[in-house]
Amino acid sequence: MSSKRSSRYRRAKLRHLLFTVGPNRLTGGRLLDRHHAAGIVTRRIEIECPLWPRAFDGIRIAHISDFHIGDLLPMEKAMAVVEQLANERPDMICNTGDVIDLDCIDVGPLFRALQAIEPPLGNYLVLGNHDELDDPDRLRNIATASGITVLDDSTIRVVRNGDELTVGGIEWARTPQACRSRLDRTVGPDGVDLLLSHNPKAFDHAGELGIPLVLSGHTHGGQIARKDRPDANLAIAHRRSAGLYEHGDSRLFVTVGVGAWFPIRMNCPAEVAILTIRSAPAG
Ligand SMILES: [Fe+2]
Repeated sequence: MSSKRSSRYRRAKLRHLLFTVGPNRLTGGRLLDRHHAAGIVTRRIEIECPLWPRAFDGIRIAHISDFHIGDLLPMEKAMAVVEQLANERPDMICNTGDVIDLDCIDVGPLFRALQAIEPPLGNYLVLGNHDELDDPDRLRNIATASGITVLDDSTIRVVRNGDELTVGGIEWARTPQACRSRLDRTVGPDGVDLLLSHNPKAFDHAGELGIPLVLSGHTHGGQIARKDRPDANLAIAHRRSAGLYEHGDSRLFVTVGVGAWFPIRMNCPAEVAILTIRSAPAG
């Protein structure tokens, strides 16, 4: 744990006091009790992805994001999510960050349980903005020691039956411009097939680069959305805040996430996403 807290950490702590700890005390603890009792849905989606390598047609990716482990999501509830995933037998697990809410506690048991699922095409993590508040190096080390591949502006080639799939991931970047710089640093001349980015704003440039599929989180789908309109929500700083988006032949999926940063979700249930990726004809 860092000895000197950053101003970002202090601001996040203040938000946590204002939006979670305070309101929870006012309700005599019922707010968090109710939030903890809410279920996490398994959302199954088939994504037609024109640029997706045909050799990997039909693979199933478990996309998880935004656990925000801490007061809002205790470790026991995070571990229950792993059981939910294990039953799906995914080919690959992609975690798009914000594992930690504030303080970097030991999330080794979660990572080891995710790795015990043994997805044949790998288990990947990119860090989110909350992961950077306290001790991102510790979090990276815990993940790596658990066998999870941390993609920190880096790529990896996955080989199956002689066919290759390149998976890349960028670290947290707040603006589209910052995402662009990280992407340009990460994506080599051969490109990437699958990009993990906590921030969906990376899709502006990823689409220009013709990246077949981008997976993101960060928005939590606003946590409060209009009924039957998941994309009409409180995440007003994001054009792409929940679900599937297109840019030419590139595709983006934004999950509304497992956790929360305040203890209310309306018309926007917490989720784990099971994505089946189909190589589809362009246009
Ligand atoms: Fe988050």
